[in-house]
Amino acid sequence: MRKITVAIDGPAAAGKSTVAKLIAEKKGYTYIDTGAMYRAFTWYCLKKGVDCQNEAACVALIPEVNIELKPGHIVLCNGEDVSFAIRQTDVSGNVSYIASYKDIRLALVVLQRAMAEKDSVIMDGRDIGTYVLPNADVKIYQIASVETRAVRRYEENIAKGIPCTLEEIEEDVRRRDYIDSHRDFAPLKPAPDSILLDTSYMSIQEVVDTIIMIIDRKIKELEERG
Ligand code: DC
Repeated sequence: MRKITVAIDGPAAAGKSTVAKLIAEKKGYTYIDTGAMYRAFTWYCLKKGVDCQNEAACVALIPEVNIELKPGHIVLCNGEDVSFAIRQTDVSGNVSYIASYKDIRLALVVLQRAMAEKDSVIMDGRDIGTYVLPNADVKIYQIASVETRAVRRYEENIAKGIPCTLEEIEEDVRRRDYIDSHRDFAPLKPAPDSILLDTSYMSIQEVVDTIIMIIDRKIKELEERG
């Protein structure tokens, strides 16, 4: 079977990881959550008591950080399971600083590209279609209004037992949108060859079905081309 790469980019809390996980399961692809990698790095900086706005101090930690994504959506940082810790508000509030540091991005992109070498993958993030996998077979740019995204992330956090308020989440989403799209290196923006999907009024299942239809159409096209 042909190896397929699917890139899903878009702003914070647009539902990318939820749909990417479901599509990965259905199609038998490996799901790679690149945001979780930036979050794990942020978690480590906070654990070390390093100020996440101090670029030099954070970059200096690169050699001692080992991030692994394991089956079952487990995220390990230096062998420790940080899957739950990286979703907490202290990490969410600082991760955009970490993701704006070029050296940290370059280090994590090496890992992301290596993961995409092996199997068919569906990778979600901000710069997958533009920078990490510019030759991805399918590129989706998934958006939704700030209000919709804040409600979705709030409900997700509450279901996971992560304490937060809707106001706090909405402010965090707006702030991260701004930082993610205004950084110098690999900012959040749609790849010119991406398909824009506004999910504000779509159910999760509708989004999943739409993306699967796009993937299947692409596979057919690639097969016909030989
Ligand atoms: O998708 P997420 O909310 O877990 O991402 C966490 C942060 O990491 C987000 O603010 C932007 C950043 N990020 C990025 O800059 N590039 C990626 N490929 C993935 C995430």
